[in-house]
Amino acid sequence: MRRYSYTIFSEGKIGQLTLSNRLVRSATWDPSILTRRVMTDEVLNLYRGLAIGGVGLIITGGFPVFSELSSDVGSGNWLSTYADLRVKGIEKMVQVVKNARSDCHIIAQLENGNLSGRPSVIDSPFSRRKVRRLTVEEISDIVDCFVEGIIDVKKAGFGGIQLHAAHGGLLSRFLSPYTNRRDDAYGGSPSNRARIIREIVSKARQFVSDFPILIKMNCTDYLEGGIEIDTFFDLAQEIEQTGVDAIEVSGGMWDCLVRSEQELGFRPVPAPESHTRIRSPEKQSYFLKFAETLNLGIPVILVGGNRDIERLETIVNQGKVDFIALSRPLICEPDLPNRWREGRGARTTACISCNSCIFAMHVHPGKPEPGLVTCVYKNDPSLHHVAQRWLASWVRKHTLLK
Ligand SMILES: Cc1cc2nc3c(=O)[nH]c(=O)nc-3n(C[C@H](O)[C@H](O)[C@H](O)COP(=O)(O)O)c2cc1C
Repeated sequence: MRRYSYTIFSEGKIGQLTLSNRLVRSATWDPSILTRRVMTDEVLNLYRGLAIGGVGLIITGGFPVFSELSSDVGSGNWLSTYADLRVKGIEKMVQVVKNARSDCHIIAQLENGNLSGRPSVIDSPFSRRKVRRLTVEEISDIVDCFVEGIIDVKKAGFGGIQLHAAHGGLLSRFLSPYTNRRDDAYGGSPSNRARIIREIVSKARQFVSDFPILIKMNCTDYLEGGIEIDTFFDLAQEIEQTGVDAIEVSGGMWDCLVRSEQELGFRPVPAPESHTRIRSPEKQSYFLKFAETLNLGIPVILVGGNRDIERLETIVNQGKVDFIALSRPLICEPDLPNRWREGRGARTTACISCNSCIFAMHVHPGKPEPGLVTCVYKNDPSLHHVAQRWLASWVRKHTLLK
């Protein structure tokens, strides 16, 4: 195989960070530390492995910045904040990565926690929770929780943060016209829907100055009336104006999984951001056509089905995408960046995009608590078929149970 010594393996900049190459580990949840709220050696080993494997930037799995405590809404005391939810020892993640490779950066992804408040009350096929519309005061509390999280993550030594505003989490529900039907300052136009992001970023900047703040957002929700290819451009422009340092282009809201494979263009199994059966080259890099519509002054990170180094090199050289993010391929092969750089083995990843890792994340069979998210197909083939059956039945089961 050809040895890569150029674009993908050349330096790139995101805000004040200089990355040694253009490969980014996309956020991948760490269930074991999030349930126990304490860092574990196995998670630290995973991050060490990622750094040694050669990736330029690691984005952690999402850390919640708040959680609803009670229905005591409006008392000013309804949120537990990042300080309460913080995983003890997250700073050790930074240390293991830096000790493993001083030129590897790590940033923390911040997301909402457990909350029944939504921008608008929309029936969701997969939520069994009774939801309610957030008040403007509550939105202001949520902004403060994110800002507190950003300050804390900076103190812990991370190189930056990423706001998780994709996949149907709270921030993405503000951005999407499908889930945000508000008629106040937080709904309606792209500028209004981006207001919560603008408030988080501008308030955070007062405390952390030019500390890198990235965002992961949807280019399509796969829902009628949601973010789509025609509206993504305007929304992304608004997001750039908020002062973020880079945009990671992702897509899908879980609500879309009730649509058919024909309507979606991919098989509706958990999760819509992680398409399965990426067998032919045309199925790869499935958000590229959306990213190609952008014309921004900040770096664009492309995630979703990036599988073939030759194709990725071409994509980066075309100039619309600056960085390539990978999640499942690095669960399967943490040393994939080095393997590609050194020209070892196939030009495609060994990851078959089966999503059995998502089963491992949610179900962890035979274990009392969730452990690491692993490649079930490679490490536990006997469980792979169980995982595939679980994925196939998930959508039907969850919609029928309602
Ligand atoms: C096991 C697993 C956990 C994930 N956890 C997160 C997460 O915490 N935050 C996030 O933004 N995306 C998460 N994702 C989505 C990935 O970051 C990525 O967007 C998606 O899998 C598509 O990229 P890929 O084809 O390289 O896997 C997760 C995906 C998987 C498979």
